[in-house]
Amino acid sequence: MTRETIAILDFGSQYTQLIARRMRELGVYSEILPPDVKSKTLAARALKGIVLSGGPDSVYARGAPRCDPAVFRMGVPVLGICYGMQLMGRKLGGDVRRAGCREFGQAALSRTSPSLLLQGLSSPTTVWMSHGDSIERPPAGFAVTGATENTRVAAIENVGRRLFGIQFHPEVKHTLEGRRIIENFLDACKCRRDWNPASFAAESSAKIRETVGKGSVLCALSGGVDSAVAALLIHRAVGDRLTSVFVDNGLLRKNEADQVRRRFAEKLGLKVVFVNASRRFMAGLKGVVDPERKRKIIGREFIEIFTAAARKAGRPEYLAQGTLYPDVIESVSVKGPSAVIKSHHNVGGLPKGMKFKLIEPLRELFKDEVRRIGLDLGLDEEFVYRQPFPGPGLAVRCLGPVTRARLDLLREADAVVVDEIKRAGLYREVWQSFAVLLPVRSVGVMGDRRTYQYTAVLRIVESADGMTADWFRLPNDLLARIANRIVNEVQGVNRVVYDLSSKPPATIEWE
Ligand code: XMP
Repeated sequence: MTRETIAILDFGSQYTQLIARRMRELGVYSEILPPDVKSKTLAARALKGIVLSGGPDSVYARGAPRCDPAVFRMGVPVLGICYGMQLMGRKLGGDVRRAGCREFGQAALSRTSPSLLLQGLSSPTTVWMSHGDSIERPPAGFAVTGATENTRVAAIENVGRRLFGIQFHPEVKHTLEGRRIIENFLDACKCRRDWNPASFAAESSAKIRETVGKGSVLCALSGGVDSAVAALLIHRAVGDRLTSVFVDNGLLRKNEADQVRRRFAEKLGLKVVFVNASRRFMAGLKGVVDPERKRKIIGREFIEIFTAAARKAGRPEYLAQGTLYPDVIESVSVKGPSAVIKSHHNVGGLPKGMKFKLIEPLRELFKDEVRRIGLDLGLDEEFVYRQPFPGPGLAVRCLGPVTRARLDLLREADAVVVDEIKRAGLYREVWQSFAVLLPVRSVGVMGDRRTYQYTAVLRIVESADGMTADWFRLPNDLLARIANRIVNEVQGVNRVVYDLSSKPPATIEWE
């Protein structure tokens, strides 16, 4: 059966990914495409409908993104949201009024005539607005179906051609009945609504099997969720023709290497090559204090070790990577590939000189979908909801020189933080919670003795995506308990401080 698809043309709204996620939650695969994608490209898909996203521009602005006018004649329903609505209105002969006043925030939308898109909703209903321009006069053949106090034309539709426009954002939860609007649109598109992460996983296994044929695949397990789910999907497709490599660089958290062994090799039956390379990494990092040099050294060592492991595994022709959909979208968005890419976040990169064909089984998925598939494939919840952990590991949390002794202190302090945050039920609420070890020592007194030991920092932040973050307001008694435990249990730390910096201007990690 073909996979029915809704195409979302991205005009740069901060909510575009949310539109895609809402549609997928409702059982329809949706895909984000550049705004000027040609209708011919769209026609090549099993297209059921098109959404024109919002965007920051005015349709009158020079260089404002446009779409191929043929998208309105493809015979599939089109939903224009905010900027997308104005673009549709203008292209089809209506009038768009330049921003008189901006409308931002919640508004009460009242139905002004019968509507397919708004059917089943209360009137008035609360919607979320964020716009400057608005439609003055809709194109011929369109009815005005909704209005707010400040926006006379807040919803339009041409039922015959199945073209819809709304000035507000149905994808955000402040639009209380937004889900119903999206469902009504999917009904207008006559979608079966049978897509879900599990059906994706089955489809994906079949595809991988076909692609790989009798070949073999190599995958670097980082210890994180994405590479784990990628490996499990591929394992399901090709079994032991997948070799996974896990490099213990000595910069992992307490017990992490053991847990990886137990989880992947013993419980899930993957063929994993474990490389204990901590000595080599320690030797490479000796005396290095500059954060970027630490990253480079770790990346270089990793590539060399991985390349050797690949040779030993008989040079598989395929390399699996856990690339996710948001990374892919960044390169198609109107904002361009440079707006948000975090280059330093892929430690290691690819071994040069070895020609691999890439398999990226997760490149169509959002993180929450990857997590669901991970659970289906037998990963435990604790692992699937792990907080992010940087590729260079504890090296960028051990400020100053990285030595085994200091790493051990950091590991112990970090384990206390994670343990207490989990006990308090906050582990999934906060974005990251960890310890940092400073290279300064200070004087303390313990049992009538003078001490001269290191300082540990608690770094606990809330964030939606790691791009911006704020320090988490932890209850005082919990702060006190964590600090007490660290000083009592970690011999070598006599002082604990709490990091009150947000990002920006600080970053989440200290290096
Ligand atoms: P910063 O410190 O830049 O971190 O605010 C944002 C997010 O990225 C993670 N991070 C890294 N991840 N390699 C990675 O794989 C890195 O070098 C790296 N540096 C930071 C960090 O943990 C946070 O989630």
